[in-house]
Amino acid sequence: DSSFTSVTSLTLKCPKKIPQQYVLPSFQRSNHSLLDHISTEFPIIDLSMLNHPAHMPKLVNEVGAACKKLGFFQVINHGIPSWVMKDAIDSAEELFRLPTDKKMCFASADVHAPVRYGTSMNHVIDKVLFWRDFIKHYANPISEWIHLWPSDPPSYREKMGSYAKAANTLQKQLMEVIMESLGLNADYLHDDIEEGSQVMDVNCYPACPEPDLALGMPPHTDYGTLTILNQSQQGLQIMDQDKKWHAVPFVQGALIVRLGDQFEVLSNGRYKSIRHRAILDTHKQRLSIASIHSMPMEKKVGPAPELIDEQHPIAYKEGSFSGFLDHISVKSVSEEDTYLDTL
Ligand code: SIN
Ligand code: FE2
Repeated sequence: DSSFTSVTSLTLKCPKKIPQQYVLPSFQRSNHSLLDHISTEFPIIDLSMLNHPAHMPKLVNEVGAACKKLGFFQVINHGIPSWVMKDAIDSAEELFRLPTDKKMCFASADVHAPVRYGTSMNHVIDKVLFWRDFIKHYANPISEWIHLWPSDPPSYREKMGSYAKAANTLQKQLMEVIMESLGLNADYLHDDIEEGSQVMDVNCYPACPEPDLALGMPPHTDYGTLTILNQSQQGLQIMDQDKKWHAVPFVQGALIVRLGDQFEVLSNGRYKSIRHRAILDTHKQRLSIASIHSMPMEKKVGPAPELIDEQHPIAYKEGSFSGFLDHISVKSVSEEDTYLDTL
């Protein structure tokens, strides 16, 4: 059943309380007072080093350390102009501002649909709903998919398309650095990365009258190799090795990079996929665009043979993005927050 009430339309009447379906059991709430602190220790990596061969070893070291510790870092001087980032956010904002019936043609209960408009994580199976509307669309190769994207607002395809292409270029550069940091060749799995899947997950979290009772997205890990996140304001939280939640500080012009399950598997556990969630704001709507990259949909990914030895016995089963999608079509993300298949 693909019919649903969007959060965007719910909030048009400025309710003072959130409907009961969005109220989380207390142990799942984000309870801000338990937040450790806004951590300034999270790495911010300057990608201008990519243009200076002499700085590459430093870059590989910094990226490797961040991937090993949490699977999380932010990047600056990444080469994507700030107006391209802002245009994409603005076009998303315009799209979500359209009346719901203009977007309903993209609503689908099929998690494999190449374009999908929805609410919560999967409103069909979520027991409690999340305060989020989204549109997801495939983006690589862009010529194959862009004609399926929304044509209203009129500039959506151009603006989101420019950003998607730039994010894919950045992703390929980052993959080379990360492969090197694992001691693999920079062009390891090059062809799979070139043909890999890119899903643009465009999220709208309207202002929420009771932000402490609900979440925009429940704790989860992303399935792919890496995710690049562009956002309009702060709202992402990540979990550290001690299971403490941290608010990720908003850094103007920066992009957030998160490792997903496919990297944890590929690296045979040397790198971690980062558990994260989205919290809400009382006054301001937040938009985010997660460019989720992975190996090609059907490609089975297992630990790299180069990274299996006596000290590091094989620790994960192989799996594919497509298998992950089959899984989440029956199992709610809020019940099971990762799909890592360990041995
Ligand atoms: C995501 O889980 O990919 C998006 C979280 C966010 O909006 O910050
Ligand atoms: Fe995510």
